[in-house]
Amino acid sequence: MEIKPLNNVMGAEVSGLDLNKSLDQKTIGQLYQAFLDNLLLCIRNQNFPDVGAFLDTAKYFGIPKKQHMESFRVEGHPEAGTVTSEDRDVNDGKRIIRGTMFHTDESFIAVPPKATILYAVNVPSTGGDTRFINMQAAYKALPDTIKSDIQGLTATHYYGKDRGGRKVPSLTARQMRATPPVSHPIIRTHDETGAVGLYIHETMTDYIDGMEPAQSEALLQKLYAHCTENTAFQYRHKWQKGDFVIWDDRATLHAATADYGEEEKRLLYRTMLAGTPPY
Ligand code: SIN
Repeated sequence: MEIKPLNNVMGAEVSGLDLNKSLDQKTIGQLYQAFLDNLLLCIRNQNFPDVGAFLDTAKYFGIPKKQHMESFRVEGHPEAGTVTSEDRDVNDGKRIIRGTMFHTDESFIAVPPKATILYAVNVPSTGGDTRFINMQAAYKALPDTIKSDIQGLTATHYYGKDRGGRKVPSLTARQMRATPPVSHPIIRTHDETGAVGLYIHETMTDYIDGMEPAQSEALLQKLYAHCTENTAFQYRHKWQKGDFVIWDDRATLHAATADYGEEEKRLLYRTMLAGTPPY
């Protein structure tokens, strides 16, 4: 097995490994440490026979949790979902490319996942990259005055927030009722490494708790711009068929890119690993 950096922002590429064969403890430990150190691992050239085999491999990194969005679950495997070029909104039935705004998964629940894993079954001939932001690097690069302004602040994350018309996949009415607003710290300490990073994103962060709305919005917009407009914190993953990619949802944002034709087929298996309450 060889592990080498994908770039100098985040991510490492693993080659020479067949995840269909069972892994020894030493290899599992090396992979997990590389995941923590690099925030993203791409294990190339995998070939899972089915979703069950994909989930079995995910268990090397943690406990797959039930996908909150029931409409994209795989039948018989509630811990697995698919991301496809054929996805349809559960309410209006329209084709939707999910996750095109930068986000970290399921921050709208009290205990969000620690990691997300995608496995590329089919990728478009061109486009469909996933863009990532290292939120620890983004935090580190903030001016000291802003770091001290946001120290100790919390923000409310809410699926039903007003996004000015920008669309996220609908939840059913029952799921909306079961997804009330939750509050998380703006600066998140990584529970396994102790590193700190920003934990906010325009998709689900609604407002800064206890702050006057206009002031909250201005500060959030400034932080979003800092994170998303500076490519120094970003890594762009160009998918290859067979990529098994795990990333750390505690310390990164990601966004899908809707730039491929309707005739192109994109299919990825997806799971998320149980996390701990952010602090
Ligand atoms: C996701 O947001 O989990 C999907 C990312 C992608 O489809 O590139």
